Amino acid sequence: MTNEELQKAVKILLAGGLVAFPTETVYGLGAVSTNDKAVASIYELKGRPSFNPLIAHVDGPEMAEKYVEVTPVARQLMDAFWPGPLTLVLKRKASCPVSYLASAGLDTLAVRMPNNPIALKLITGTGIPIVAPSANPSGRISPTTAEHVATSFGEKAPMILDGGPCSVGVESTVLLATDKTPVMLRYGGLSVDDIEALIGPIIRPEKDPDAPQSPGQMKSHYAPITPLRMNALEADPGEALLGFGPAPQAVLNLSEKEDLKEAAANLFSMMRQLDNGKYTGIAVMPIPMHGLGLAINDRLKRASYKK
Ligand code: TXA
Ligand code: MG
Repeated sequence: MTNEELQKAVKILLAGGLVAFPTETVYGLGAVSTNDKAVASIYELKGRPSFNPLIAHVDGPEMAEKYVEVTPVARQLMDAFWPGPLTLVLKRKASCPVSYLASAGLDTLAVRMPNNPIALKLITGTGIPIVAPSANPSGRISPTTAEHVATSFGEKAPMILDGGPCSVGVESTVLLATDKTPVMLRYGGLSVDDIEALIGPIIRPEKDPDAPQSPGQMKSHYAPITPLRMNALEADPGEALLGFGPAPQAVLNLSEKEDLKEAAANLFSMMRQLDNGKYTGIAVMPIPMHGLGLAINDRLKRASYKK
């Protein structure tokens, strides 16, 4: 990668565009984490039928500390294994400006420092964590070369920074590290043995069914406390109408001009704003079932289950 290519990539990211870049595990499809619409474009390009929370890639513990609450055990793990294939899920700071779409509405954010010079230069260049899932369309295998990325996206491929083949080749290990004893969320490039040699036994949900776990922390998706219903044409008394398309009575509108990318970008932050205890319910207007509409409806459906 030339310095010119790096500058171009930084410019694209800061303007809200996408760039594919190498990490030691797999290539990532990156966007600046603080830009809701840029994050929405990731899901659009991948064609994921649901919104999974993304990993925010940082250039070191100092950058992570600006965005999340780094617990002592997380700090110990960062010091030992960063840069490297270890992702830590931590609590977002109250002031964290990262898009709620990247956290899929949760109060946590996954952070990781990749062990790849191109990735690190890119993050330092923007000065902002870069969120990136693996750079492959949904359902295809994760890419470990720039060519995989190019061929799997074809004409839709974004700018790709070529760093040669990935050295690890499998995705990072993901640990929930908000409490004293971390919980394994995904097995990956860093082994459990290496982790346990440093900090002692961790919680492995498939092995320790009785292990103390706070169910709130294990939640993999966000649901408002206020009851939510879908496909509403108007709000009942006491309810807040969350609009899509022209809707004069809507308290908030996902997208007045019926733009699904804008709606995705607004989805979680607007659900959180309306979940403020002032309304008896949240009534969401119909969202069409195509493109990003599939993922939006999937999340609304999960959020509308009775608790
Ligand atoms: O090696 C990797 O991790 C690659 C490279 C590009 O860094 N990235 C990657 O991203 O594999 P992705 O989006 O395919 O997987 C992210 C994983 C998912 O299993 C997701 O559920 C979990 O991390 N995750 C992210 N944020 C989370 C959160 N706030 N709470 C729980 N799990 C989270
Ligand atoms: Mg993936």
